[in-house]
Amino acid sequence: MPLLRWPVPALLSWGLAWGLFLALRSAGLEALSAFVMAAALGLALAFLQLPRWRRLMVAAGFPLSLLISARSLDLPAWAWLIPLLLLALAYPRRSWGDAPLFPTPKNALQGLAELAPLPPQARILDAGCGLGHGLRELRRIYPQASIEGIEWSLLLAGAVRLLCPWARIRRGDMWAQDWQPFQMVYVFQRPESMERVWAKACQQLAPGAWLVSLDFEIQGQGALASIDLPRAHRLWVYRMPARA
Ligand SMILES: C[S@@+](CC[C@H](N)C(=O)[O-])C[C@H]1O[C@@H](n2cnc3c(N)ncnc32)[C@H](O)[C@@H]1O
Repeated sequence: MPLLRWPVPALLSWGLAWGLFLALRSAGLEALSAFVMAAALGLALAFLQLPRWRRLMVAAGFPLSLLISARSLDLPAWAWLIPLLLLALAYPRRSWGDAPLFPTPKNALQGLAELAPLPPQARILDAGCGLGHGLRELRRIYPQASIEGIEWSLLLAGAVRLLCPWARIRRGDMWAQDWQPFQMVYVFQRPESMERVWAKACQQLAPGAWLVSLDFEIQGQGALASIDLPRAHRLWVYRMPARA
């Protein structure tokens, strides 16, 4: 399963859970037992996934879709398009290769200012800023800095402009953005993106600038520090070396 490209494992897992549910029902099993067994299969398949947001999506897919279909029996067929449209807006095709929305927990960046001091007015970027949870934590830690975010999803970018009016938000692709003007880039993406993040940072960030990653280490690069956080989160702090 981990060999398959995301979101194929999620689609397969949901399909298998639905397949089991329908097979058990047609074999005469009552709905509750069939549901429990199919949801358990979804949960077991979820544990094949990393990181945790993927586990959550795989485990929740079958029960949620069953709930929606049970509740929508007397809705017109096109009503199904509304959640699909919202999902497509919040999680557009281009972000499938990166991470979907999963927020930075409150106080996750505590302790960062001592490790990575920044001058007032420094420019900090949250690359893939979602609904602004990372932006808010950065602002809490660096109240005088200029906090900026870039977000690919049109829906999330519009919402974060309203939620964080003090931040400068761009709607666009973080890979296409120039990171050169920033003294710190913060990312909360996915393990597979980290090599690309590091290559981009080495190319564009000035020596001495900071790269901070929530949960995902950059393999083979020595972090200046890593901070253990509640609920098995971990913050990785990197300082950009002098250019070769
Ligand atoms: C795990 S969430 C993190 C959200 C936010 N940084 C936080 O910590 O609360 C990742 C976000 O990156 C966005 N994203 C994924 N790929 C992107 C890309 N290529 N360019 C810009 N944003 C992207 C997703 O839409 C999602 O909102």
